[in-house]
Amino acid sequence: MIVTVTMNPAIDKTIDIEKLQHGGLNRIQKVEYDAGGKGINVSKTIRELGGTSIAAGFLGGNAGRTIESVLNEKGIQNDFIWVDGETRTNTKVFEKTGEVTELNEPGPQISQEQIEQLVKKLEGYADAQTLFILAGSIPNGVDKGIYGTIIERVHAHGAKVLLDADGELFRQALDAGPDIIKPNRVELEEYAGFDYRASVEELLTVAKSLKSKGIETVAVSMGKSGAMFVRDGYAVRCPALSVKAHSTVGAGDAMVAALAYAWDQKLDNEQTVRMCIATSAGAVTTIGTKPPSAELVNELMQQVVMEQL
Ligand SMILES: Nc1ncnc2c1ncn2[C@@H]1O[C@H](COP(=O)(O)OP(=O)(O)OP(=O)(O)O)[C@@H](O)[C@H]1O
Ligand SMILES: [Mg+2]
Repeated sequence: MIVTVTMNPAIDKTIDIEKLQHGGLNRIQKVEYDAGGKGINVSKTIRELGGTSIAAGFLGGNAGRTIESVLNEKGIQNDFIWVDGETRTNTKVFEKTGEVTELNEPGPQISQEQIEQLVKKLEGYADAQTLFILAGSIPNGVDKGIYGTIIERVHAHGAKVLLDADGELFRQALDAGPDIIKPNRVELEEYAGFDYRASVEELLTVAKSLKSKGIETVAVSMGKSGAMFVRDGYAVRCPALSVKAHSTVGAGDAMVAALAYAWDQKLDNEQTVRMCIATSAGAVTTIGTKPPSAELVNELMQQVVMEQL
């Protein structure tokens, strides 16, 4: 079973407008809403790949109800903690000129009791057959050690954890020894203290050193330079697939979804790597964070090239 945790979900609202009139009346030509937040995006991609997951985290208000109904419509099982206040709506205004203005809401305040409620809920799903995905940012005011706490508590029940976070959140969670991580190259460089563009060899050394923290799988994504995968006695590098890029936003989340799906399906190293590269490349061909179709992923899987490191 896969459980995705989105502590700070959002409705992604996209507005198309001729030209934004600052201080004037703006008539919107087209508006679209989608349920977002990294964990939720991962759940959507897993669904597209033919797998199942349970989406968990915090929701509040009308925006929260909208997200819940989007997930229900898509057939994604969900089990959120309901909180006072309103889940964020993050608005992107696209002008004809290509200019993009972003308006991001703060989101609800989460109390210590609500954090504990969520952790208890997660523990209820935790056993040796469960993989938790901890992905993305956390609400304002929540302690940066929260992912570490969740890792320790679900590990105590034999569950596994896939972590996708950055900065201090990533650093503190690493000390708790997640099982799978997928930093992008900038996140890994920052973690390792490189203040320059590290070489693949340097990144590989850092990835291998993380095994001492008990991390079983390190996938380092490097954007259009592809990715590197390190497991016990196994290390490969793959160039990215050549696809028509629409939006690279969410390519990393697609790779996280593929890693989780492959874990759940007990795919071997090679199939896992193929799935990761193909799903993330597929995600690049779609608009925004829309997941690629399983058909496209299957087709792209055949094109993946692996170089042993
Ligand atoms: N232009 C591209 N063409 C083909 N594949 C790409 C391209 N950009 C990214 N990818 C694929 O997506 C993977 C993840 O990309 P990236 O390293 O940018 O993730 P990320 O920074 O975590 O993204 P995000 O957090 O926005 O989802 C790469 O390892 C690669 O396989
Ligand atoms: Mg990312």
